[in-house]
Amino acid sequence: MEIKRVGVIGCGLMGSGIAQVSAMAGFDVVVLEAEQRFLDKGFAGIGKSLAKFAEKGTITEAPESVRARIKGTLKAEDLAASDIVIEAIIENVEEKKKMFARLDQAVRRDAIFATNTSSISVTEVMTATTRAERFIGLHFFNPVPLMKLVEVIRTIATDPKVMDTAVAFALRLGKVPVRTSDKTGFIVNRLLVPYMLDAIRAYEEGVGSISDIDLSMKFGCGHPMGPLTLLDFVGLDTTYYITHVMFDEFKERRFAAPALLKRMVLAGWYGRKSGKGFYDWSNAEKPVPQDAALRGELA
Ligand code: 3HC
Repeated sequence: MEIKRVGVIGCGLMGSGIAQVSAMAGFDVVVLEAEQRFLDKGFAGIGKSLAKFAEKGTITEAPESVRARIKGTLKAEDLAASDIVIEAIIENVEEKKKMFARLDQAVRRDAIFATNTSSISVTEVMTATTRAERFIGLHFFNPVPLMKLVEVIRTIATDPKVMDTAVAFALRLGKVPVRTSDKTGFIVNRLLVPYMLDAIRAYEEGVGSISDIDLSMKFGCGHPMGPLTLLDFVGLDTTYYITHVMFDEFKERRFAAPALLKRMVLAGWYGRKSGKGFYDWSNAEKPVPQDAALRGELA
């Protein structure tokens, strides 16, 4: 099956990124949102990112003509002709199932359905549809326009040809696809989440300051960001949610949320998106480590 038209559900950080890279690869894209203001916000981000790519010469096509391939809509019916629909809404199993039940009615029978979930069971979301063999996970990474990896996730019911089509689609997006199965956290979060949680535990135990922990992994191991900066970047609320799903699945301490993470989330310290996490992001160019406040919490 050849993919020409891409439907994206949700125009937040992940959905807008997926819409953008699809349009950059030449696909026609329709993005579904619940409200116009979410579309406006997502499209503004796409505009900025395309302008950066154009400035650097990463894309040769004019940003406006890439942008013209993306249409926003508030009606699921406008995705009827999509060849693949990629869902990137809130990480909530009931919301995702509700959305897919609606799409199952609205979109052509032979379209592939994909969820961009980072931790929820792809198989469980699939049960809301009547197209088990055409249902997969496509897990992109933040920021989508820059991060090359896409995890392509099969369930026991997925048709192998659908997997091959999805891998070919990810390659057309200029991504590096890896094949994996529907085990909570897939490959990346299975390895990344315990690492980030351990960084919080190390901090709780006084192993180092926030910036010393980050500098250590950045300059000792060549990571682009230290683990506490990465937590702020991914979102502490998102990470906290993922720990629940993973702990529930594996019942192992390495997936359990440290007390400090819970307290920070309760206080609304979600990281970069809320302005404060392990760092104060008021000036994103110069984030300020929050040891003074967090050490008080640990004392
Ligand atoms: N679009 C286009 N260009 C962008 C951009 C975007 N959305 N975001 C940043 N850029 C550009 C910047 O303008 C900058 O350009 P310049 O070199 O001309 O100044 C360039 O990309 C590099 O950006 P920065 O200077 O801001 O910072 P870095 O060099 O550190 O690169 C990064 C940014 C690619 C995000 C890098 O820090 C990185 O790889 N960090 C790790 C990210 C990561 O691990 N993501 C995965 C998170 S886990 C996940 O998503 C899974 C989920 O399920 C939890």
